[in-house]
Formats: sequence, C-alpha cells, structure tokens
Amino acid sequence: MSETILIVGSGAREHAIAAALARSSPPPKLVCFSGARNPGIASLSSAYGLGSITAPAEVVAFALAQHVTMAVIGPEAPLAAGVADALWAAKISVVGPTQSLARIESSKGFARELLAKYKIPGNPFFQRFASLDGLDEVFARYANRHVIKDDGLAGGKGVKVCGDHLLSIDDSFAFCRELVAHGHPFVVEEKVEGEEFSLMSFCDGKTLRHMPAVQDHKRAYVGDKGPNTGGMGTYTDADHKLPFLQEVDIAAAHEINQRVAEALAEECGAPYQGILYGGFMATKEGVKLIEYNARFGDPESLNLLTLLETDFAGICRAIVDTTLADYVVSFSPKASVCKYVVPEGYPDNPRKGDRLQLPAELPDGVTTYLSAVDVKDGELIATGSRTLAVVGTAATIADAEALCERVVCQIPGPFFHRADIGTGPSIDRRMKHMKAVQSA
Ligand code: AMP
Ligand code: GLY
Repeated sequence: MSETILIVGSGAREHAIAAALARSSPPPKLVCFSGARNPGIASLSSAYGLGSITAPAEVVAFALAQHVTMAVIGPEAPLAAGVADALWAAKISVVGPTQSLARIESSKGFARELLAKYKIPGNPFFQRFASLDGLDEVFARYANRHVIKDDGLAGGKGVKVCGDHLLSIDDSFAFCRELVAHGHPFVVEEKVEGEEFSLMSFCDGKTLRHMPAVQDHKRAYVGDKGPNTGGMGTYTDADHKLPFLQEVDIAAAHEINQRVAEALAEECGAPYQGILYGGFMATKEGVKLIEYNARFGDPESLNLLTLLETDFAGICRAIVDTTLADYVVSFSPKASVCKYVVPEGYPDNPRKGDRLQLPAELPDGVTTYLSAVDVKDGELIATGSRTLAVVGTAATIADAEALCERVVCQIPGPFFHRADIGTGPSIDRRMKHMKAVQSA
C-alpha cells in the first residue's frame, strides 16, 4: 500500500525521522505538521502545515486534508495532549502512544507506581506527595541523597537533585513548598549513583525490538559543567553496548522495557505502540530506572536512525499493525558520535538570528540534521535553541568522534559545541567513575 506519512514536530529528531522514512522502499509520501518550519524536513515533504501540535483537532484536520495513512509523533507534548487518540479516532494509525499510555512519561509517579505494582526491578525508593505531610521523615532517611520531581511534564525544569540544585534541606523544603503552592503533586526518590544510559525499544504493544544503548550529555559545557540542556550530544559503540556497561546491564534494561510494555498493556487495557525509551543508571546495585520517555530521545535518535539498516517505514507499519514479531530490526555495526551546534548563551540566554553556514561538502560517514533553524532571504538562520546536529559514524568511537568534530569545527559564527563528547579522555572518565561507584 502506498503510504502518506505525517511527521508531527520540527526538531532535528523529526528531521532524522523524515530522512529515515525517505530512505525506505518504496519511499513514502511525507507531510509535516508543526509549530515551526524546519527547512530540512520541508525539503523531504510534499506539504507542511503550521499550527499547534498540542491541539488534536488541528493535527487531525491537516492529516485528513493530506490523506495521511500513518502518523509518527516526535515530541512528548502532543502525546500527553492526546494527539494520538484523536488520530486513531480519525482512522489514522499512529506511531506514538495514546494519552493514557503516555503517562509513562507525563507522570513520574505513574511510572514509579507501575514498576512497583508489577514487581518490575529498577525502582529506587520513592514516595508520592501532594502536600508537605510526611516529607520530614523521607528527608531524614535520605538526607543529601534525594531527588524531587514535579509529577507532570515540566520541560526538563521539574527535577531537582541533591548536591546539584538542592544544597541544603531548606532548598528541598523550599522547592516542595513551591510545588504545593502551584498545586503540583510531586515525587521524592532516592538519589542513585552511577553512569546514565538510554535504551530505546520499538514496541507494537507485545513485541519489542531493542535499539543500541546510547549515552547523552546533558550539561552545556565541556567536562559536564554548566546548566542542564535538552542534550548536547550522544555516542554509541560498534557492538551496540557502551564501554562502561556489562552484558548484564543491557539485559536488565531490555527486561525492564519488555515488562513495562506488558504492564502498560494490562494497566491501560491497550497496546503501547511507539518508542519506549528507558533512561537508566548503571549502579553498584545493578540497573536503576531514572525515567521513562514515550518517544525517541533527542539526540539519541539521531545516532540510531542514522545507523538503522532496516526499512523505517516498514518498522512503523509493523508497530501500528502489531506485526513487529515478524520483523528483524538491524543497525549498522558501527560506532557513532553526535554533537549539537548551539547558539552562544544556550540554554539560558541563547542568541537568535545568526546565520548558520553548512560546509559545502560533507565527508563520507557524516550526516547533519537541522533543528531550531529558519530560512530568511535564502539563508539558514538560527532561531535560539539547539541548531544543527552533526553525526559521525565509523568503525570506532574515536574515528566517529574525529569525523564529527572535523565538520563541527568548520561551522563559523557565534555557536558552540562540546568538543569532549565521545573523546578518549571523556570515555575514560566515565569508565573510572563506573569503577569507583562499583567499588564504593
Ligand atoms: P529526569 O527528568 O527524570 O530525566 O531527571 C533529570 C536528571 O536528573 C536525570 O537525567 C538524572 O541525571 C537526574 N536524576 C533523576 N532521577 C534521579 C535519581 N533517582 N537518582 C539520581 N539522579 C537522578
Ligand atoms: N536526550 C534526552 C531526551 O530526549 O529526553
């Protein structure tokens, strides 16, 4: 059947989704609906609608007008707003869970309780709160080692960690008081120590096909310094593991994703059809769950969709038709390094309106994806967030990093990136940290 596929969203993640779909055979017709016009996605699409991606009726109206047969939803906000529900109701198949299933990301308390109820390993201690009652006790037990999380989607601003944002018990109480004053329920959980990794799975509700493990870099500056960002860059290894992980860690993450998909089907009475993204920490006590996301990671998906060998449109069709069990999903046995080029001042006070100049030619093994970029008078203009993602792929992480860095360094203007992502010293530091955590 000839597909017309709607992509919802307009970042580099959605550019990578569009590029992977466009490589499929036969190539589907692509259309995009989003709040901004990404020129990379536009160049691959036959129609581009601008509007609110969290307004289900707007997305559905565009999809029906374009005779869309399947939709792929990139970001979390439309999932939490019920855009998948509205598309399914209009008889359009969707890669991306319905509102109820997307609670695995949109409610931190729901995710923790699901693991607890179905006896799935990976939870640290946690407790849900709607007031300050009982906080004293938890803070006494987990003094200097707790994390406080707004229970709803807070765009990355809802999590505060002891020793990081919370430097005293007064800071912890102050944040909780603020949450209560705004009527936000919250979760307090034990702070666990280790190295973080992302393990995403394609999921049709029953069958999961796991993707290689990836490590993101959330801090803005070299050496994991500075404010938290959406993610400055990521790497994967050619064996699809990560240098600091053991076979058992990967197996544990696979098992948690599999059991969470089964628990979600039971709890919500419907199959989870989309990408299930576990954010994990490898610790002394094994793999712990940090959070779930109901979508592709950004930048994680840029590495993985670049390495994906299997036809992506076919995988999406198998997800929505519940036929993933018939599918072998393979990724190129290569390492990859992705770095984001971001405007000076990002993330707190980013410059806007600077011209982005891409290198005239890219070396073999390098792919670029546009993110917060507009076109004015024929020039690419940065609009004030992560701007351009550069992905290098090669036989080793070191070679992939060198390729990526060579291209990133050619980009002029008031932009910066993290030169350390995927370098030998940066990976050594993570290996040492993992060893120190294990022997503590
Ligand atoms: P989240 O929004 O849940 O991903 O949290 C943001 C960041 O806070 C994570 O990437 C972790 O670095 C950190 N974090 C969240 N939960 C925990 C935890 N239980 N223990 C240690 N760090 C955590
Ligand atoms: N890379 C972090 C995220 O996509 O949430």
